[in-house]
Amino acid sequence: MVASISKDAGQYGSTPGARRILVTGALGQIGSELVPALREHYGAERVVASDLRIMPLRPSVEGAYEHLDCTQLQQILEVVRRHDIGTVYHLAALLSAVAEEKPHAAWSINMGGLYNVLEAARQYHCQVFFPSSIGAFGPSTPRERTPQVTIQRPTTIYGVTKVAGELLCDYYAGRFGVDSRGLRLPGLISYVALPGGGTTDYAVEIFYQALRYRHYTCFLRPDARLDMMYMPDAIRAMIGLMEADAARLRYRNAYNVTAMSITPAELADEIRKHVPTFAIDYQVDHLRQSIADSWPCSLDDGAAREDWGFAPRFDLAAMTADMLARLREKVQAPKGG
Ligand SMILES: NC(=O)c1ccc[n+]([C@@H]2O[C@H](COP(=O)([O-])OP(=O)(O)OC[C@H]3O[C@@H](n4cnc5c(N)ncnc54)[C@H](O)[C@@H]3O)[C@@H](O)[C@H]2O)c1
Repeated sequence: MVASISKDAGQYGSTPGARRILVTGALGQIGSELVPALREHYGAERVVASDLRIMPLRPSVEGAYEHLDCTQLQQILEVVRRHDIGTVYHLAALLSAVAEEKPHAAWSINMGGLYNVLEAARQYHCQVFFPSSIGAFGPSTPRERTPQVTIQRPTTIYGVTKVAGELLCDYYAGRFGVDSRGLRLPGLISYVALPGGGTTDYAVEIFYQALRYRHYTCFLRPDARLDMMYMPDAIRAMIGLMEADAARLRYRNAYNVTAMSITPAELADEIRKHVPTFAIDYQVDHLRQSIADSWPCSLDDGAAREDWGFAPRFDLAAMTADMLARLREKVQAPKGG
């Protein structure tokens, strides 16, 4: 599990040098917040956003944008060369529920895209960030305090691509000295962009519905306990890992990180402290519930805390208060609602 990084890896550095940063899948839930954060941190001219989708016209968004299909190696090589890319945050992927509907496309995008990014990184000496997931675990993994190093036998195509992705990143690090780093992210809660079809999407939808209709029908059971994290903590974790001292990283691909372990019922109770008339009912979606049942309830993130000082700032109460405050500015209840 510990990737041995060849001596060459050090020359690429732990903080990006003068070269630019490419974000793939940049129009998704994470990219919509990671790109502005990177631009603020390193300068707008240093960050190139890219996605398969055509960027909607948003004059407020500054910086370069490329239409890029990660399944096409030549396109990635061309963008990396033309923009002098030194770091790739590779976000493009199909998420768990969508991947289960389209397993062939999931393999092609999740594995083919990662392989292409690692190949470009090998050729152009780039650093790579790979977002793994709690989906990289499976039903035979210990569900409570899931250790950093443990059984990984997922039963979803999404999980298969995440475990294989962790291994492929380790392989490129050990074999070719590519400075690849990853996190096993839990479900992410955010207010900027909607989630892209994952098992934990309920934890975002519930906030919109609470403000609009004071009511939410949840597709997971009330007691479906899963790890979650508020997006500002996830962005800090990603940039923090990429800037961490390489010599201290025992597990590059990938570190367990988490901020809270919650159920739909607990989240609804917390929302009710701010929206007293909020009601929740349940109409369980068997595909997504079966995926949730195969995932951990609570991760042990001790290695991330020890190796590069990761510490989340938002617990359930702080996240809920902030989400509602931010969303109130953007979501309006229907008249009379
Ligand atoms: N959001 C979460 O809760 C979460 C949790 C764990 C891990 N992750 C991982 O983080 C990454 C980003 O997740 P997200 O939530 O932002 O996903 P998302 O679905 O919101 O966004 C993914 C983006 O990738 C783009 N894309 C799809 N196919 C592409 C291709 N062939 N080439 C280029 N772009 C393509 C899509 O257009 C989309 O904008 C994924 O690898 C995901 O597995 C996300």
